[in-house]
Amino acid sequence: MKSVIVLLGPPGSGKGTQGEKLSEELGYTRLSTGDMLREAVRNGTELGMKAKSYMDSGALVPNDLIIGLMKEKIAQAKGGVILDGFPRTVEQADALAQQLDVDLALNLDVDDDELINRLTKRRSCPQCNAVYHLIYNPPKAEGVCDKCGGALYQRDDDKEETVMNRLKVYRENTMPLIDYYEKKGTLVTIKGVGSIDDIFKQVEKAVQ
Ligand code: AP5
Repeated sequence: MKSVIVLLGPPGSGKGTQGEKLSEELGYTRLSTGDMLREAVRNGTELGMKAKSYMDSGALVPNDLIIGLMKEKIAQAKGGVILDGFPRTVEQADALAQQLDVDLALNLDVDDDELINRLTKRRSCPQCNAVYHLIYNPPKAEGVCDKCGGALYQRDDDKEETVMNRLKVYRENTMPLIDYYEKKGTLVTIKGVGSIDDIFKQVEKAVQ
C-alpha cells in the first residue's frame, strides 16, 4: 500500500473530495495547505495575514511560507500521509523530496469548463472543511453541513474572475509537476469526471 500520496490536479478537480474519502478509508493524515491557510486567515495569525492577499487574488502564497509550514506538519504526522495542494511548484517538490519519498502522485484530470462549473457552485464548511456542490453533491439541508451542522459559505476565491486566475496560475506553476513526477515513475493520472464514487474506485486501485 502506498503511504505517501500527493494529490495533483487543477483547482476544483476533486483533490479535497477524494483526499477526504481516502483519508477516512485508510486512516491516513490528510494535510491540505488550502484548509490550513484558510484557518490561519480566519484566526488572524501572522501566516494568515501574509497569505490573505495572495489567496484572494488566486495567486500562490510564497514558497518559503508554505515550505516551512509543511515541513513542520509532515514531521508531526504519524503513519500514511495524503498531501492535498502541496507541492504546487517545482521548488516545493524539491523541498518535499529532501524530507521524504513520494510513493504516488495522483493527478486528477478535468477540463476547464467543468472546473469553472464546479468551483462557482461549490459551498464549503468553515468548521470541518467538508465541501459540497449545489447540484452534483448538495447538502441534505440547504446551507447546512451534513457532517457537523456548520453554516456553509462560498469561498472568496470561488468567484468566477478569481477562478480564471487560479486556472492560469495552475497552468504556469503547478502543471510542470506532472512531468516532474512522471520522470520519477510515481505519476498516475485519473480522469476526474464522473460520479465521486466511480472516481474513488480508481483512486483506491492506484494506491494498492
Ligand atoms: P486550495 O484550497 O488547495 O485550492 P485548489 O487547489 O484551488 O483546490 P480546490 O480546493 O479549489 O479544489 P479541489 O481540487 O480540492 O476540489 P474539491 O474536492 O473541493 O488552495 C487555495 C489557495 O491557497 C490557492 O489559490 C493559493 O493561494 C493557496 N495555496 C494552497 N496551497 C498552496 C501551495 N502549496 N503553495 C502556494 N499557495 C498555496 O471539488 C470542487 C467542487 O467540485 C466541489 O463543489 C465538489 O463537491 C465538486 N466535485 C468534486 N468531485 C466531483 C465530481 N466527480 N463530479 C462533480 N462534482 C464534483
